[in-house]
Amino acid sequence: MSARDLRFGLIGCGNLGAVHARCVSRVGGARFTAFADAVPAAAERLLAEHGGGYATADVARLLNDPDLDAVYICTHHDSHAPLAIAAAQAGKHVLIEKPLSLSVEECEAVAAAVEEAGVRLMPAFKMRYYPLLRQARDFIPEPQVIVGQMMDDRWRDDAWAQDPVRGGANVYSQGCHTTDVIRWMARSEPELLWAAGGAMTHPGHPRIDQCVASIRFASGAVASWIQGDAALGRMTGKFFLELFGGGRSVQLYDRFKAATFYDGAREWSERVDEEEGFLLENREFIAALRAGRAPELDAADGIQATRMVLAADRAIRTGQVQRL
Ligand SMILES: NC(=O)c1ccc[n+]([C@@H]2O[C@H](COP(=O)([O-])OP(=O)(O)OC[C@H]3O[C@@H](n4cnc5c(N)ncnc54)[C@H](O)[C@@H]3O)[C@@H](O)[C@H]2O)c1
Repeated sequence: MSARDLRFGLIGCGNLGAVHARCVSRVGGARFTAFADAVPAAAERLLAEHGGGYATADVARLLNDPDLDAVYICTHHDSHAPLAIAAAQAGKHVLIEKPLSLSVEECEAVAAAVEEAGVRLMPAFKMRYYPLLRQARDFIPEPQVIVGQMMDDRWRDDAWAQDPVRGGANVYSQGCHTTDVIRWMARSEPELLWAAGGAMTHPGHPRIDQCVASIRFASGAVASWIQGDAALGRMTGKFFLELFGGGRSVQLYDRFKAATFYDGAREWSERVDEEEGFLLENREFIAALRAGRAPELDAADGIQATRMVLAADRAIRTGQVQRL
């Protein structure tokens, strides 16, 4: 492997594109040299901020650029899978923002394209890099009971993520964060899922925005998963997680920046000033590519996270327990 910096292209130069561009410049060992966005000014803004070769509205130019080792896909959700498949077929490694896709079929098509092309794909589930989550997972490696919650403030009706196709509303958009964390904590695959919920904060919307689910994993672990945008004010913690098992328990709160551990005899709390999930996931992606190894997360993680979200949607619509 050459010692030169890896060269990246960025597709989708909005909020998260800007976040990743800043992270890559902090990590080092890689740099963005091409920026693409359907809105040319967005790509030009990041080119001006970070330097590099060019900004374009033509995604194909970037995908066909032989100088690029990898592309970041930070667009809206309906374009994730087609862009990831095109990138893999062009021989580029991929870091893709969540969710991998809003459909399991598309997720699987992405996985097949990546496999066939022999490239690496990492879904950007940044919470895997929150230090207290990692500590909690090590502290209780075989949880029997898991509680996971992500509760946003009510989303604006005109937010792009509320669009049924481009975004999917709260549960389709954000649920994959929580289902991924719960599955990662369980270290097992989900088998059964039942959920209640619906379009409650946005009545009449075709997609669900609140979900309360029960999940059983192959290991026998069980989980309770709460997702939505019904939060009101500071008393409602956006992120909340509890693990119980092996005579131990741990509770994470305050956006996962604080945790209370209990080891059967002693209880104590820990706090971190800031989580650096975005930075650390970029560090992992770059380190993996430079070492020629697989990143810690792959398409299978993206597929399972979406599969659990869609199972919840089916359970809510049918009232039936879903077998995964
Ligand atoms: N991991 C996290 O914590 C986190 C937080 C927020 C958003 N996200 C994810 O990041 C992604 C982007 O969200 P955002 O908040 O940056 O949105 P955004 O609207 O700020 O930016 C998206 C950009 O993509 C461009 N775009 C859309 N479709 C395109 C296409 N087909 N080709 C080229 N450009 C296209 C838009 O013009 C826009 O500039 C989403 O997948 C979102 O779910 C992740």
